[in-house]
Amino acid sequence: RSDFALRGGRPATVLVLGAGVAGLACAYELGKAGYHCTVLEARDGIGGRSLTLRGGDTLSELAANPAQQAVSGLDGRPAAGGASAAAPTAPGALGETQRVGFGAGTYFNAGPARIAQWMVTLDYCRELGVPLEVFVNTNASAYLLTEGMRRPVRVRTARADAYGYISELLAKATDAGALDARLTQADKEGLLDFLSHFGDIGPEHEYTGGERRGFRVDPGVRPGADLGTPPPLTRLLSERLGRVLTMDAGYDQAMPMFQPVGGMDAIVRALAARVGEGRVRTGARVTRIMNRPDGVEVTIEGAGVLRADYCVATLPPHVMARISGNLGADVVAALATPVPMSAGKLGLEYRRRWWEIEDRIYGGATETDLDIGHIWYPSYGFHGERGLVVGYYNTAVDAQTYDDLPHARRLRQALAQGAKVHGPAYAKGILASVSIAWRRQPHIEGAWVSWPSRNGFSLLQRPAGRVYFAGDWLTQLIAWQAGAFESARKVVTELHHRVLKEA
Ligand code: PHE
Repeated sequence: RSDFALRGGRPATVLVLGAGVAGLACAYELGKAGYHCTVLEARDGIGGRSLTLRGGDTLSELAANPAQQAVSGLDGRPAAGGASAAAPTAPGALGETQRVGFGAGTYFNAGPARIAQWMVTLDYCRELGVPLEVFVNTNASAYLLTEGMRRPVRVRTARADAYGYISELLAKATDAGALDARLTQADKEGLLDFLSHFGDIGPEHEYTGGERRGFRVDPGVRPGADLGTPPPLTRLLSERLGRVLTMDAGYDQAMPMFQPVGGMDAIVRALAARVGEGRVRTGARVTRIMNRPDGVEVTIEGAGVLRADYCVATLPPHVMARISGNLGADVVAALATPVPMSAGKLGLEYRRRWWEIEDRIYGGATETDLDIGHIWYPSYGFHGERGLVVGYYNTAVDAQTYDDLPHARRLRQALAQGAKVHGPAYAKGILASVSIAWRRQPHIEGAWVSWPSRNGFSLLQRPAGRVYFAGDWLTQLIAWQAGAFESARKVVTELHHRVLKEA
């Protein structure tokens, strides 16, 4: 059953630029409606950022890290630091190539890895028959580590202490009359009742810890041995736990989240199979896009010119802005507006799943404010022999510190940081590793983009002549496959209406 379909026919020919989620989804939906699509992909493989790495794969990075504005946060607020300079290397020249040495069955989602329940991506998984499993996004047994903390603390322990102390403070302030200007007597009773549960506080509103913090020795036949008393309030407040403790509060980060069984690239593979492998040309680098009165002409490096009635261009805007043609100066300026952002990931294949056996962590993430960002434990292969830990998933300025390093130094730095959470054994028993700096991925050059202003955003929602634009970067779902799907649906709908009208 298909959720989305274009109605009425008068098929035309369409050149789709880019075989990531946006491009493949356009070709898939247009194909269902009888259009003749050709998808042109500059990279050797399909999927774009939906990249899953397995043993035997290779990963090449650009020799030069493209010059970068220093920005922080997912939305790219200007950061305190300076800009990192680009090395004087020919654009497009390749640097280090990593050979992925993972064992059979191990995979690493180097790009997107989690899908929220409300995202259209799940509808495509259903329609395409891509099997799903739960992606454990948060785990009370994982750790938190901030610069303000002396040692890592389990999420559940930090949460119990934070909720407990906040409840104690608020309950005591309520009793002392400090909130009388805001609260009626009934409000106060309601608040105290809420806080007694929220913070697990005692009859005098005191927080003294309890089993929500977890156990030093877990309960069994005998009662568990507790973790002792909570740290003093002043220490808790100095730890700056707010951000790392609320990571899963975001609308797009709440559990349960999902992942395709066997790797995120299952989605793009299923799309490409429906489009027809023969209609997707990899290694096809577009150098020129020309609008003509009756069609579009797209030049492929070393392979001549292709013609079609329409074009849907889904390349990253900062890459597209460099392609020659006659789209118009305003369109090119709009394409050059969004700022490519850094993000990086490191996959570590371990000989044994010590996080399950010793730490009792089955999936989920340790959140930190170190430059590694998160440590992710695998949501697949529980109790298997080996396992794949994401040793860093960092963004913006944190990612930039790893962007410039060769893999060996990224690995060394990440292991030193991870040892602050898991101890010196963290660096032992690693069978294989691979790291990606998305700013250095050929033909992509960024993890996602940040719009410094909305200038150009609405211009690119409209076609430039016969050339339409699609991608997550044209939605409110930047850095999500769902954004690419939503944009693709919008563009193919508009294109189809135009074709029907011009019939
Ligand atoms: N979608 C990416 C992720 O899940 C990046 C992102 C994170 C986007 C958080 C928005 C919010 O990590």
